[in-house]
This record gives sequence, C-alpha cells and structure tokens, in this order.
Amino acid sequence: MEIIATNEKLDQVKGDILVLFFFQEEKPSGEVAELDKIISGSISQAIKLGDFKGNLFEVTPIYTHGKAEVTRVFLVGAGKKEDFDKYVARNIAGSAARRALKLGPRKVSVLLNDYINAEDVIEGFGLAAFDPGIHKSKKENPGQIEELVLIGSVDDKTVKKARSIVQASNWVRELTSQPSNIVTPAKMVDEARKLAKTFKFGIEVINETEAKKRGFGAFVGVAKGSAEPSYVVVLKYSANSKETLAVVGKGITFDSGGISLKPSDKMHEMKYDMAGAAAGFGFMKLVGELKPKLNVIMITPLTENLPGGRAQKPGDVMKSLSGKTIEVINTDAEGRLVLADGLTFAQSLGATKIVDLATLTGAVIVALGNEAAAILGNKKSFTDTVISASKSAGERLWELPLYPEHKELLKSDIADIANIPPSRGAGVIAGAVFLKEFIDDSIDWVHLDIAGTAWLDGEKPYMAKGASGFGLRTLVNLTEILERDTG
Ligand code: BES
Ligand code: ZN
Ligand code: ZN
Repeated sequence: MEIIATNEKLDQVKGDILVLFFFQEEKPSGEVAELDKIISGSISQAIKLGDFKGNLFEVTPIYTHGKAEVTRVFLVGAGKKEDFDKYVARNIAGSAARRALKLGPRKVSVLLNDYINAEDVIEGFGLAAFDPGIHKSKKENPGQIEELVLIGSVDDKTVKKARSIVQASNWVRELTSQPSNIVTPAKMVDEARKLAKTFKFGIEVINETEAKKRGFGAFVGVAKGSAEPSYVVVLKYSANSKETLAVVGKGITFDSGGISLKPSDKMHEMKYDMAGAAAGFGFMKLVGELKPKLNVIMITPLTENLPGGRAQKPGDVMKSLSGKTIEVINTDAEGRLVLADGLTFAQSLGATKIVDLATLTGAVIVALGNEAAAILGNKKSFTDTVISASKSAGERLWELPLYPEHKELLKSDIADIANIPPSRGAGVIAGAVFLKEFIDDSIDWVHLDIAGTAWLDGEKPYMAKGASGFGLRTLVNLTEILERDTG
C-alpha cells in the first residue's frame, strides 16, 4: 500500500472512495460543507434523514454522480465526542478500511482532522487489512488498497513509524495465528535468530539440557512433557543507558493443560498461548528499527505444555531458578511456572524495569472480555507509566489490585508456594501474586494478562477475528517514555 499526502480540495480528490469522519450530531462544516454543496447536499441529507448518525464504526456510502472527482464518499461514525480517544481514532479508520476492502478499491483518500491524524489512519488501515486465512489456497478477500491518500498535514517520520508498527503488528499476528505444528519452539528460536542477525542484537539460546543444568527447574517441569525441543531465548539491545527494560513473554506454543488436561472445546485455540512471546518479538523488531536510547532485553521461555509419560504431574514439586520451591497443583497453570524462571533470569541479566506479557488466565476473559488486558504491578508509579503508554497507544489496560492478603491464596503445605489457589476466586490476581514472588522489591514490574486481548473471539468492524498483536504498541510507547524520563 503506497501512502501519499496531499492538500487537494475535496471535490478534486480522485479515486474510488473518500473517507470523512463525523461525530454524532456533527454537521458538515468548512471544506466538507463546500464538498456537500458541490454534490447537491447529499451528505447533509444522509444526516438529516438519519441514514447516517455518526455512531461508532458506522459506515454509510454515498455517491457523487460525477459532481466530484471521487466515485463515493464514506461517512464514517466517530461516536460521541466526549468518548473519543486514540483507540477510537485508529479503529474508526479501521472500520472504514474493512468496509472499503469489501469493494476492492484501488485508491482510498482520507480527510485528516484535529482528532484523527496520519498515524491513526495508517495504523487503522494497515491492521484492518490483515487476513488471518494464511493457509487458504484461495484468498477470500483479494481486494487490497493500492494507494492510501491522506488529505492534511503529514510528515515522513510519522508515516515511516506507523508503517513499521503495522508491519511488526501484522507479523506478530501471523506468528500467533500459525498452528503449533508450524510455530514450534524451534521455529520461534529461528525468528529470534533472524531478528538478532538483522538488528545486531545479542542473543542467547538455552536448550532444555542447559536449562536443567542451570537450574531453570520451573521451566523444565513444563518442558518435560513435550517431545518438541524447548528453549529459553534472550535478545539484547544495548544503548548504554542507566535503566534496562526487560520484556518477558510467555511462549507456550501449545497449551493442552498437561496432565490437568483442558476440555477439548476451544483447545485448538491454545496455539495462541505464545502471543506474549510474539508481541515481544514484534517489539524487538521495532526496537531494532527505532533504536531507542534505552537498553532493552527480551526473554521468552519457549515450550509446549503436553501430557505424557514424562510430563510433570499435579502435586509435583519443582525448584525454580530463584531457589524457591513450587508445588504444581495444576499443570495447566504452566504460564506462571515458565515465567517465574524467565523473570528471575531477567533480573540476573540486569533488568531494572520488567514488563511481562502473558496469556495467563481464562479468568481475565471472564473479567474483561476481549476489550482490555489486566495490568498488575508492584510499584504504583511504574504501573501508571505503563497505563499512560497504553492510552497513547490506543490499547486498553485495566488495573487490578495486589493486596498483601492476596498472598494467602498460594500457600502450599509442602513447598514455598503453590501454583494455584484452593478456590476459583481472584484468578487473574492469583497469577500475578505468584509472579510477584519472583520479583525483587527493588525492581519496577508489571504483569499484563493478555489472554482476552491477544485473540478476538469474533470479527470487529475494524479487525479480523483471531490474533490482534496486542501489547506491542504499548511497549513502543513505554520505551519512548522511559527514554525521555531516564535518559
Ligand atoms: N493459557 C491458559 C490461559 C488461557 C485461557 C489463555 C484461555 C487464553 C484463553 C493458561 O495456561 C491456563 O490454562 N490457565 C488456567 C489457570 C488455572 C488452572 C488456575 C486457567 O485460566 O484456567
Ligand atoms: Zn495452561
Ligand atoms: Zn497457558
């Protein structure tokens, strides 16, 4: 998709579709009012008759009948002005794009305004165009927009960055969508090696034998059940900064639950249990391209969670890399086990700030659905920083508390800690309480439970069903904030 900036008058804009955004109850004004006049008041008529109300994601096409150069105008709803944010901006652009794609247009023009900028439109269009049917012999949606024309002020740097974000996000989505017979731990290692080669990152790949030798007992406990080789991978980008940001991504390429086997309903979706690792890789790709003045490391434990004669069993006790012993009451709570060692490892590598990204619990889907990820942390100021990064990225995070009393949830009779609580309550919090046990008090840490946001159960007006690439944009913004604040 070629991106072109122009300041042409609206009636002179050529092509298949011109996209105009309207809030609820907004009337045409300025250059839109001029265009409306030229096309015999069709826009104001659609609004007056109630054919177009400006509701969120509403798209109403109207035709210009040769009175303007463009064939159609899409009136696109931006919803209530007071609810407007970055999330809305990008996604209304995406809803225009997905509607447009159905028509197979070549050239689409979009009028930018005080609310919706070039970045929103490029990201919205780029993410909307992702087709998850990667193994279909015949593409169902062949229409690709060849030219995206942005009407308004656009600078090259913004275009370049937004394009990079789209490419990285769609790559994350592809990796996440791939089945576990294709995206195995070894395949993820290949991707990490490619990143290291392209961007000259340091890389360390620890195989299962080595992991065992070095004491990654919680990771090995999970890896034991799988016939696929398992790895812990570290990518290192150095900018000689005081602070080091570590991203720890859950990389379970398939989660059957292990001996605590999951029900078969929706089990196939557990190929996305490596979405945290994939988002971490996408983030590193952007780190490589944007080169922040901040040390960044990315760690991912990569394995499957399968039952079998060699698998760990409920009640087994594992000694983690930190030295803490863990009673594995439920083998399906494997994410926190592999992350425990990943978090310990991150700290041994000098991380001062840690974000872990994990499809950790079904409970977060019960709590927040596909609309927001849960964030829990050990320092209010860092949690707030990450939340503000997410806001400017248009990704939604909702904070849940970690009270001292919550620690009681994970008492074990035999070991230092149990991997699940005795009852169902506070499932998201229990996951975070467990992880927190592996974080030194001096470190700023947040846990993002992305089980609900990394995978959309249904199609959205602005995005296909399936992998969403969630988390990557928040990490990029966080890096920019940390670069500024800690420089
Ligand atoms: N990978 C799952 C969490 C998950 C569930 C991700 C649904 C995406 C969609 C995780 O490993 C898991 O199985 N968690 C258990 C924890 C429980 C045993 C305390 C869960 O949520 O059921
Ligand atoms: Zn599990
Ligand atoms: Zn899992």
